[in-house]
Amino acid sequence: MTNRMSANPTGAYGPDEPLWETGRMARTFETVGVVGLGTMGAGIAEVFARSGLNVIGVEADDAALARGRGHLESSTGKVVARGRMSTQEQTALLGRISFTTSREDLAGADLVIEAIPEIMEYKRALFADLDRICKPSAVLATNTSSLSVTAIAAATSRPAQVVGMHFFNPAPVMRLVEVIGTVVIEDGLAAEVAGLARRLGKTPVTVGDRAGFVVNRLLLGYLNHACVLLESGLSSRDDIDVAMKLGLGLPMGPFTLLDLVGLDTSYEVCEVLFRESRDRRHAPAPMLRELVTAGLLGRKTGRGFYSYGEGTATVPEAGPKAAVSVAGIVGGVPEAARLLTDLDAAGFKAVVAEPSDLTPVADADVVIALSERPVIELAVRLPHPERLVGLHLVGDQVAEVASTVLTSDEAAGAVRDLVTVLGRTSVRCGDRAEFVVNALLYPYLNDAIRMLDSGYASAGDIDTAMRLGCGYPAGPFEMLDVIGLERVRDGLRALYAEYREPSFAPAPLLDQLVTAGVSGIRAYAR
Ligand code: CAA
Repeated sequence: MTNRMSANPTGAYGPDEPLWETGRMARTFETVGVVGLGTMGAGIAEVFARSGLNVIGVEADDAALARGRGHLESSTGKVVARGRMSTQEQTALLGRISFTTSREDLAGADLVIEAIPEIMEYKRALFADLDRICKPSAVLATNTSSLSVTAIAAATSRPAQVVGMHFFNPAPVMRLVEVIGTVVIEDGLAAEVAGLARRLGKTPVTVGDRAGFVVNRLLLGYLNHACVLLESGLSSRDDIDVAMKLGLGLPMGPFTLLDLVGLDTSYEVCEVLFRESRDRRHAPAPMLRELVTAGLLGRKTGRGFYSYGEGTATVPEAGPKAAVSVAGIVGGVPEAARLLTDLDAAGFKAVVAEPSDLTPVADADVVIALSERPVIELAVRLPHPERLVGLHLVGDQVAEVASTVLTSDEAAGAVRDLVTVLGRTSVRCGDRAEFVVNALLYPYLNDAIRMLDSGYASAGDIDTAMRLGCGYPAGPFEMLDVIGLERVRDGLRALYAEYREPSFAPAPLLDQLVTAGVSGIRAYAR
């Protein structure tokens, strides 16, 4: 796929006039200030210093400063331990960073970026202070995840020189920087900051000032939805994480990622998204509030959804075991025939039935109903409804094993064992539309289509942002073209019918593309 950034370095939004048309000299960024040296700030300082810039790291007090220095030493230490950097390079990198508790030391910086907590009053107070301290030509940048850059800029006397520069966690590794321009930004500044991001080895995507920008708008809806599904009892934390990681090839499952991002940050981003969108799916899940209130913020506090002892998350427990003499398979060809062949090769006796006539599987020890939709309707037509289990194969590695309200633990355990024998990882879940993976994936794809349709960002920029910001193997439009628009549309309809969640209804653009017989959304959106 073409990377639109190479054709249009500032993306879909923002003044992009070459500087010679703006009548001013291009800025040089050699000394940068980073205010706040928590996980993100320290990562950002590392990125700047690695690219040869001088960095002034600022923290509120000596203890926070020592913690920030510690983050930098341990992060670069890991790179040295992997043999990717020499100790001399590490020393030189750290030598380019000065540490201070005095903001006044930022007076000579060419650019100052803040990475303090996501609270508007704190940010506005800081920017007012930076405006007083920094030289007139300095650019003030915010790493806010979702707050209004315009509102932050308005706290200064130089709103035209305020920009969003949004890095992703872990900043030294994730390759995306969202550059956020406002309606008052100086001509050419977004392009200059995008150029700076490129100098740091990052890929910039430039967008306008909307809550959550591209990535968090799409990501947090999905992460919050995972919390809601967990709370609903559809599946467990570990099953959902495994399903999304192995089923879709994502680098992390949603709960592992929430712990990495920080539950406090995630909560705040959801709040901001909800305030703008009024979409119930952005309203932070009660579970998030409870964890945040309890101080369980994720990795940074040693516990969130998982507990981190020595950096390892807790291990999922094993399921029950049961023996199977005869397995029944219900499903259409070719899936049922393929499963029959696989079970046969693994030494199991299996029989197949069409959904229209379940007689051949009536006496099987377990009945596997291949489906991505609820299977309870099939179960109640069997003499032993407790023996029926839904099975949905996801990619090459995962099988969702769905228990109905009637399924016995023995039958579910037996099917999980069969799944293991077939070399797949089983994901336990309830008998709900689209089970786990598609229930989380399709609304995310729908949101991406809505974002495209709103004109906020191009399909290429959205794909780039999700691939490089979250390490996804493919962007949403690339995924849509692989899965097929009609299948996603039908899945969304099923989700809407099940949950009656208004935002699960297929986006009008998706519906229209399917109706028009358009097979690939990227071909349409180009
Ligand atoms: N500097 C340079 N490189 C570093 C580094 C550092 N400080 N730390 C790690 N790396 C490199 C490692 O050397 C390694 O490189 P190779 O693979 O080439 O050897 C690579 O980064 C991966 O490191 P690890 O092996 O330690 O870890 P991993 O393979 O388990 O991957 C991960 C970890 C990169 C975090 C991966 O799981 C991932 O991409 N997760 C998704 C993260 C994500 O979605 N982030 C965005 C969150 S949203 C956000 O941040 C925005 C917001 O506002 C809330």
